[in-house]
Amino acid sequence: MKSQDIRSKFLGFFKEKKHSIVPSAPMVLKDDPTLMFVNSGMAPFKEYFLGNAKPKNNRVADSQKCLRVSGKHNDLEEVGYDTYHHTLFEMLGNWSFGDYFKKEAIAWAWELLVDVYGIDKDILYVTVFEGSDDADKLPMDTEAYDFWKQYISEDRILTGNKKDNFWEMGDQGPCGPCSEIHVDIRSAEEKAKVDGKDLVNMDHPQVVEIWNLVFMQYNRKANGSLENLPEKHIDTGMGFERLCMVLQGVQSNYDTDVFTPIIREIETITNKNYGKDETTDIAIRVISDHVRAVAFSIADGQLPSNTGAGYVIRRILRRAVRYGFTFLDKKEPFIYRLVDVLSSKMGEAFPELIAQKQLIENVIKEEEQSFLRTLDQGLILLNRIVDETKGDTVSGEKAFELYDTYGFPIDLTALILSEKGLKLDEKGFDEQLQKQKNRSRAASEMSTDDWTILNDDAVEEFVGYDTLEANVKLTKYRKVSSKKDGDMYQLVFNLTPFYPEGGGQVGDKGYLEDAHGDVVYILDTKKENNVIIHFAKNLPKHLNETFKAVVDAKQRYRTECNHTATHLLHQALREVLGDHVEQKGSAVHSKYLRFDFSHFSKLTAEQLRDVENFVNSRIEGKLPLIEKRNIAKEEALADGAMSLFGEKYGDTVRSVRFGQSIELCGGTHVKNTADIWHFKIISEGAVAAGIRRIEAITNDAVKDYYSENNRAYFEMKELLNNAKEPVKALQNLQEENASLKKEIEALLKAKAKNIKAELKNELQEINGIRFLAKKLDLDAAGLKDVAFELGSQFDNLFLLFATEQNGKALLSCYISKELVASKGLNAGQVVRELGKFIQGGGGGQPFFATAGGKKPDGIDEALAEATGFIK
Ligand code: SER
Repeated sequence: MKSQDIRSKFLGFFKEKKHSIVPSAPMVLKDDPTLMFVNSGMAPFKEYFLGNAKPKNNRVADSQKCLRVSGKHNDLEEVGYDTYHHTLFEMLGNWSFGDYFKKEAIAWAWELLVDVYGIDKDILYVTVFEGSDDADKLPMDTEAYDFWKQYISEDRILTGNKKDNFWEMGDQGPCGPCSEIHVDIRSAEEKAKVDGKDLVNMDHPQVVEIWNLVFMQYNRKANGSLENLPEKHIDTGMGFERLCMVLQGVQSNYDTDVFTPIIREIETITNKNYGKDETTDIAIRVISDHVRAVAFSIADGQLPSNTGAGYVIRRILRRAVRYGFTFLDKKEPFIYRLVDVLSSKMGEAFPELIAQKQLIENVIKEEEQSFLRTLDQGLILLNRIVDETKGDTVSGEKAFELYDTYGFPIDLTALILSEKGLKLDEKGFDEQLQKQKNRSRAASEMSTDDWTILNDDAVEEFVGYDTLEANVKLTKYRKVSSKKDGDMYQLVFNLTPFYPEGGGQVGDKGYLEDAHGDVVYILDTKKENNVIIHFAKNLPKHLNETFKAVVDAKQRYRTECNHTATHLLHQALREVLGDHVEQKGSAVHSKYLRFDFSHFSKLTAEQLRDVENFVNSRIEGKLPLIEKRNIAKEEALADGAMSLFGEKYGDTVRSVRFGQSIELCGGTHVKNTADIWHFKIISEGAVAAGIRRIEAITNDAVKDYYSENNRAYFEMKELLNNAKEPVKALQNLQEENASLKKEIEALLKAKAKNIKAELKNELQEINGIRFLAKKLDLDAAGLKDVAFELGSQFDNLFLLFATEQNGKALLSCYISKELVASKGLNAGQVVRELGKFIQGGGGGQPFFATAGGKKPDGIDEALAEATGFIK
């Protein structure tokens, strides 16, 4: 059975059981501080499990893209070494939100596997939770046991401990016992040797878990205790790639049609065969896995970067490059070439791969290029470290510097050192790494109390589209403490006018006031799993009273100007540059807006002007805001609304329209484009391959910008003696400056020539070496010039020149190549040692090196010590 059919059979089966089939949510999570990526099928539905929102249908099924590369569930380092773990994988899941429970979940799982897919029941094992003796004191899941008994013989029902049979999504939140379904796909001979039962959950590549049925019935609180959930839920997750392995009769996920086309392509590009040598195979598996993770992330709008989720993606890609570089001999970019086959094989199920193909290829290629440059640079630095190493061990500190500052991978360092017969002080490296981890952990350490509930029934309502003030009641609060922010209180109300950060727009600030005149400032507002959370330094004094909640109107208004301008900018870019322009990120602040979009070249001055004019014409057109709330997504799309890749839309959406600009958007906007007053682009540049960024301002910020520019203009004009034509006057100055520079250069050259002529006569003969150590009145380039000039005329030279420039000292050492070879002299070592006299350091090559320092007084001493090297 082809993988496509396996997926659609699953969805079809649950559709028949009255489940709504939903598309995979984007992998990158935006409003969940506890999780970066969707790491299991249930993550996009957390708000339903937590009771923060109600689903339209309480039965849902899907195939969800998951990424297990950080946090509680992290498989990254295993990937490639075995045949059944992945970074990105698809999780087939069926859910019941307070609807059916264990009985149906078990019956349907069995029916699907055995009757629909035709899996032989004699290769299946199931596990049930055995209970726990620890603080939780949980009973055995006899209920699940009794249901399973109806389908499978009891000797195939195994009990399992908390690690395997109690599923928790994180340190807090919904959890419950689970039943796993395992397959044993070993040969009959293997089975005769060892009973399959003994291999379940033992990391055997052919006895693997394929499906996990979680029976959510508890909530884990911050203090570690469990409470019953008000409603029971089902969360199941089946590893799609593993299921394909079973149904396609192969022994490894990588031998299914999910991976073979990618692997064939890697073989073609690298000229290596899969299945001949374990090291090569690991590298091929790593790359075929990682390209999927990276491509899907980019399609979801998450580009590789230096922080957060982007950094995780960068690390995955770099791991792939490293395996290609080290084990497949690929020293140039090639992973981007796999995107073609990936998108043609998976594009039907995940159309974003086709729509974003070009962008994915460009971004991956540029990342590969830049990391390969890092590797090159790292190799040079590593060689230098090797040259300087006395003894047979490279210090952990040096290796850590290479790893931390230059991004050079430690396993590569170790490999190269061992090829050179050197050892790495791994303990020292680990110590440095641990120190760094402790530093960043201490900085990000945070503790979160449980919620104190004041009103359990209250459903929070956002009223901030229509008003900036409302009378509100506190429904729950909790304290969060971190090193960075100290103690903060998170407050939730029955209703709120405060807009929570989202869709690029910053969260509202403002204050709460009670009848006694006590005021608490709201410093920020964010959304977490669909709950609007207000951040305050203090807790209100009278918790149960009604507060007047007031949003900072000025900040909100400026932000709205920028948000509406962002929509107009989006429209303008598509109009001026073409339909390929897609939003790739935005930040809407009160002071400015930032908009990232796909486009392949720098915008010309003319295009920028056209874009600006387009937006300003819409502002002058006084277009009113026309919004539709709570409409079906299909209705909004039929109106012509733009939706974004990587954005998770709810069952209903809101559309925001100004003239012909229509977007699905939850943000707040001006009532009329005329409110924006004016729009001005202040910068345009690249963020990544094929992604450009525009920063712009509106309203008051434009007025400030123009008045500041005006002030600078008059100041400049004054400096130019109030020239009538200041631009012309400036051009004249520039020309004059350029010709003066040329003159100075010529004079310096002449001076260097004179100096050279004098220096020839000053060369001393010591031990057959022509030696000179002298302070010269030249700059760094002059020192080098003179040294190389003399070098071309004389052999056996040892020169040490020094100069003082702008209060700093500079040494420059030249040693003829024959002296380097015959006497083992090394200019790099000379300047490093003499550098201490000028309180500085440096390096270079054995025949020429320079050092800089902050103590010019030490120059004479340094020069005096130079003879020490040749005597
Ligand atoms: N949440 C469970 C898991 O990830 C089942 O979906 O295994």
